[in-house]
Amino acid sequence: MLQDNFDRKYNYLRLSVTEVCNFKCNYCLPDGYVCDARPKTLSVDKISTLVNAFAMAGTKKIRLTGGEPTLRKDLADIVAACSETQGIDTVAMTTNGYRLLEKLPRLVASGLTNLNLSADSLNPYTFSQITGSDSLHEVLSCVDKALELGVKKVKLNAVLLKQYNANQLQQFLDYIKDKPVTFRFIELMQTGDNRAYFNAQHVQGQQLKQQLLQSGWRAAPKAVDAGPAEEFFHPHYAGQIGLIMPYSKAFCASCNRLRVSAEGKLHLCLFGEANDDLTPWLDNQDVRGLATHLLSSVQHKWQGHQLQMGRTGLTKQLAMLGG
Ligand code: GTP
Ligand code: 5AD
Ligand code: SF4
Repeated sequence: MLQDNFDRKYNYLRLSVTEVCNFKCNYCLPDGYVCDARPKTLSVDKISTLVNAFAMAGTKKIRLTGGEPTLRKDLADIVAACSETQGIDTVAMTTNGYRLLEKLPRLVASGLTNLNLSADSLNPYTFSQITGSDSLHEVLSCVDKALELGVKKVKLNAVLLKQYNANQLQQFLDYIKDKPVTFRFIELMQTGDNRAYFNAQHVQGQQLKQQLLQSGWRAAPKAVDAGPAEEFFHPHYAGQIGLIMPYSKAFCASCNRLRVSAEGKLHLCLFGEANDDLTPWLDNQDVRGLATHLLSSVQHKWQGHQLQMGRTGLTKQLAMLGG
């Protein structure tokens, strides 16, 4: 079992399968950021070696992220490789949902069990202002299709933005009245090169939490293996609300995830340097050697992140690591 020196156990891997994205969400991509046209990615075989090693070290859940994972033509093969790995019981994906509708049936047939879709606003105009895309309708069709196909958990993510969606709570709540999905609000994180944007748009999740508690929402008990998100339910709503508040005090105490970048580097934290290149083990298909290496690497994980207002060394990694 992957366990660090602060008693945290890691049974969840977030694997970025490409750094490239086709959206230009204004909170994510700093002005002038250009994706490397030919970034390195891991082949399906290497991903399979990687996932087998993580599974050998006790990982049960893989989340595929990007950039935008659906841009990989071999995505269904990647899903199948994860799902066929002994010990992996959950294969999840975080995506912007673009052109996903036609791909979903095959992905689910290949073993996709959970789906998180970005939906920063339910107002088409605001959605396109934030993301630069007019695909809100398609994203929402994906939610219904995923539920129809039996995807176990469907979540929607909205980054809280003062001048865009912070006053649209009612619209979000109306949406989950009869839909069994979780809407998650994520505090905007400062990334080093978005300081002005951050100062103008950052909203504290605590404000939203108070609003919810005052209107009948209740904190859901945290499962032992739950990650840092706080969840809320309401007796009159089919859906739930989640809050991801990285600036809150105990956020990192419940961390349960490790990350691997699209080029095969281990990130112990979203806000951490990755000097740990795993490709030598992948090149040699050395599952056991890599599992041993991971068990030792995780010992170097520190207690909390350096994400304090105005102080972070993170640049561009959020987009490339998929959060
Ligand atoms: P589940 O797997 O469904 O529990 O959700 P998740 O939070 O791991 O998945 P998702 O990809 O939907 O995450 C949504 C966003 O939450 C990410 O894009 C990040 O912005 C943020 N987030 C997720 N994990 C972490 C984390 O460990 N640290 C920080 N600071 N933010 C995170
Ligand atoms: N702050 C918070 N979340 C971010 N994401 C990207 N950039 C940021 C940021 N600066 C998250 C969004 C998106 C996911 C892929 O990455 O939640 O849904
Ligand atoms: Fe938007 Fe995700 Fe693409 Fe960033 S990586 S621009 S958050 S869709």
